[in-house]
Amino acid sequence: MDQFIINGGRKLKGTVEIGGSKNAALPILIATLLTDEKCVIKRVPKLRDINTTIKILEALGKKVTFENGTCTITKQTALKVKLPYDLVKQMRASFWVAGPLLARKKHAEIALPGGCAIGVRPVDIHLKGFKKLGAKVILNEGNIVLKAKKLAPTKIILSFPSVGATQNLLMCACLIKGKTVFENIAREPEVFDLINALKSMGAKICMDQQGRVIVEGVDKLKGMKHSVCADRIQTGTFLIAGAITGGEITVKNCVPEDNEILLEYLQEAGAKITTGKDWVKIKAPKTIKPVNIKTAPYPGFATDLQAPWLALMTLAKGNTEVSEDIFENRFMHAPELVRMGANIIIEKNVAKVTGVAKLTPATVMSSDLRGGAALVLAALAAKGQSCVERVYHIDRGYEEFEQKLTALGAKIKRYNPVQI
Ligand code: EPZ
Repeated sequence: MDQFIINGGRKLKGTVEIGGSKNAALPILIATLLTDEKCVIKRVPKLRDINTTIKILEALGKKVTFENGTCTITKQTALKVKLPYDLVKQMRASFWVAGPLLARKKHAEIALPGGCAIGVRPVDIHLKGFKKLGAKVILNEGNIVLKAKKLAPTKIILSFPSVGATQNLLMCACLIKGKTVFENIAREPEVFDLINALKSMGAKICMDQQGRVIVEGVDKLKGMKHSVCADRIQTGTFLIAGAITGGEITVKNCVPEDNEILLEYLQEAGAKITTGKDWVKIKAPKTIKPVNIKTAPYPGFATDLQAPWLALMTLAKGNTEVSEDIFENRFMHAPELVRMGANIIIEKNVAKVTGVAKLTPATVMSSDLRGGAALVLAALAAKGQSCVERVYHIDRGYEEFEQKLTALGAKIKRYNPVQI
């Protein structure tokens, strides 16, 4: 398994260009199941999860080409309705095919997505919505079988603004004649990027003053030409990399307003932030001030930036509380940071951090995508040679991570121990 060898203690300086968002590209690629027409999607990041999604589309009857960041999807065979476990287990977001398959075939058979390192991650909100739309849900040998004689418009109030459930149910409603009304949907930028993509296919989706989303189902959807929005989590990760290494980084091709609360907290931590239409520049503080955070649905602090923020707070001058209120087990990076000299105590869903003057290099192990990125940031800050193992987690969500960090002055190399 690949690992990163990092010689830390260097200030990162320079400019980094942000690519398309993984968490927008995945549902938008899956939305192509809603049509037999050709779809062309630009700014798709080269990531493991994208490759998995392409395999899923091919397994369901699509032909997919992926060159220079552009995915072209066309019909290969009639749409299939069964998705095998070996694909679903690689990526929870595979479950998002349920909505389009149910809408088009009134039938979907998908392996129940397992939990993953960051928690059980059920799909009960998705299933409750599908039942309200008229589907029968049967659990059969680890597969969820969704079937419907007829799907009917209804009102769906999500018990929690789940990003995936919002996207799954919205895609399903696009082909259900009549008006389906959604309340308490997720408002992450990736959700609105999907809505824009669906509207470009001819879906009728609007939002009223109260923030309710109304979907008026149509008979058929056209193909799409869409460019994926910038990855706000990558943006945040690079800004925190600038802060934790005492450097100065300009992040380009991003959407500053998608990271509003992070920019506010980075300034509270002492960083100097300047922004333009599609760029953000950070000048690291001399002394990092402690800033408590609680993760929350958008526009609250992104749970996907909790781990990088925790890494930063290990070097703050004072005590910080980082509260993970979205997932029940998203602190696997904490013990690894402690092995690098951090002082962190986990109490239920709160990480209590006492800032230390410096981190020390060590060999640490990634357990999940964002935790792995946090360990890289910590290793970049720690003077000396560190090794971050199980880089495959990081490859799920950070395109050309080591190349981009190297261009900012980092000493980081990818090794596969087998090859050494
Ligand atoms: C999406 O996951 C993202 N993944 C996650 O990013 C992100 O952390 C998460 O949204 C929250 O922002 C993709 O977009 C592919 P949720 P999703 O449904 O949709 C509970 C990354 O690092 N829940 O909003 O799975 C769930 O257990 C990944 O890029 C239910 O209880 O997240 C969790 O505690 C990690 N029942 C909370 O809601 C359900 O039916 C948020 O989950 C669905 C979710």
